[in-house]
Amino acid sequence: MKNEQNHKSTLQKSARDGFTSGLGVILVTLGSAVGLGNIWKFPYMVGANGGAAFIIVYLISTLLVGLPVMISEHMLGRNAKSDAITSLQKLAPKKQPWWLIGAAGVLAAFVIMAFYSEVIGWVLAYIIKAASGSLLTTDPGITAASFGAVVGSPWLSLIVQWLVILYVSIIIMAGVSKGIEAAVKKLMPALLVMLIIVCIRSLTLPGASEGVSFLFKPDFSKLTNAAILTAMGLAFFKLSIGMGTMITYGSYFRDDQDIPISASKVMLGDLGVSLLAGLAIFPAVFVYGVQPDAGPSLLFITIPTVFASMPAGNIFMVIFFVLSAVAATGAILSLFEVPVAFLSDHYGMSRKKATLSTAIALALVGSTAALSGNVLADVRIFGLNFFDLFDYMSQNILLPVGGLFICIFVGWVWGFGKIEGELSNKGMLNNPGIIRAFFFLVRWVSPILILVILLSGLGVINI
Ligand code: PHE
Repeated sequence: MKNEQNHKSTLQKSARDGFTSGLGVILVTLGSAVGLGNIWKFPYMVGANGGAAFIIVYLISTLLVGLPVMISEHMLGRNAKSDAITSLQKLAPKKQPWWLIGAAGVLAAFVIMAFYSEVIGWVLAYIIKAASGSLLTTDPGITAASFGAVVGSPWLSLIVQWLVILYVSIIIMAGVSKGIEAAVKKLMPALLVMLIIVCIRSLTLPGASEGVSFLFKPDFSKLTNAAILTAMGLAFFKLSIGMGTMITYGSYFRDDQDIPISASKVMLGDLGVSLLAGLAIFPAVFVYGVQPDAGPSLLFITIPTVFASMPAGNIFMVIFFVLSAVAATGAILSLFEVPVAFLSDHYGMSRKKATLSTAIALALVGSTAALSGNVLADVRIFGLNFFDLFDYMSQNILLPVGGLFICIFVGWVWGFGKIEGELSNKGMLNNPGIIRAFFFLVRWVSPILILVILLSGLGVINI
């Protein structure tokens, strides 16, 4: 109660919106991390890259790279209390262009939202398809054709994307605490309950154990350099780091937030959701004989067949796609907030105007991703269509490079004294061991690992 009053008075003084409680911070940050990455990317990437062996590399990446970068971003944002670009401008020594990290982040936010909003659009289309009963089949051939019809239609692809941009804009306009925080607090618990229900169903299918052993028995032969880059990139994408989202959210944290602890909780919570999604999907994949490495469409082809085989499957299918949309909403809100915060903090634009400008820009950039399955299908850049290019570029290049520079800035430019002040909440927390471990990781381990994995994954060096 007292904290709340303190917080309110700070708000009045600074007139800057923010998250209202410690639990709110964790839920909203977890809401950003948990998204389509867990449900749509994690399972097919694990499937394509050797199951458990990939998960082990992913885990190492989240611990040695993901967590230090997330803590760094929260710390920078909270210290500067501004959007990603302005924060770095404020914190960097004069004339050094570290704000470019923030600028690359705003760019990355658009690149990610361009394809991300389209996948959420597909999920929305699937809610309606599922409700109509047209997906009630255990034949993956039929569900594959049905997915092809969605991706192949230019108007449908655009309209569902616009719908996503519209509802996200409405929540963003309502503000940080009354919009983002209020929405995510309601969405997260519902998602968890549904995921557990689907897991139980999938795990009790006859023959489910094959999928479980695929998920937990490592096959290191598939672990190429490119797969290792994918695992690290996924860790970045999953934790929403390397592009300013966590700097922006950090700027809404309260000063008494224990950053290393809350970031660790978010990392663990996110990992839990990814594993649950894997347990929901792989057993069913093996039972119905679908290839586990079937690609990004795994969610739209396999999941319906899982539901079709359970009693009242239609209802569960609708709810599952609603909840996928729900998970993705928490994530896209955090992406959308990056340019909105920049426009309002940096240029003093009203929240309404900043939201509208972002929405219009996104509709333009996003249309290239929406149309890449149909009218723009033949346009290839580096052999990829727009959708795949945006996906590859953000996950495997923009986010790791952003993360690398954040580590260099925090570990080498900002320095130990400032880190100590920020991570101990100006001496209020007694956590010298954590701070020293973090400093060592962010100065040496994380940047070197990112650099080596990035260069070898892209084929620049050979290890
Ligand atoms: N972490 C989100 C997911 O897993 C995606 C995301 C990436 C969100 C980057 C914000 C920033 O779906």
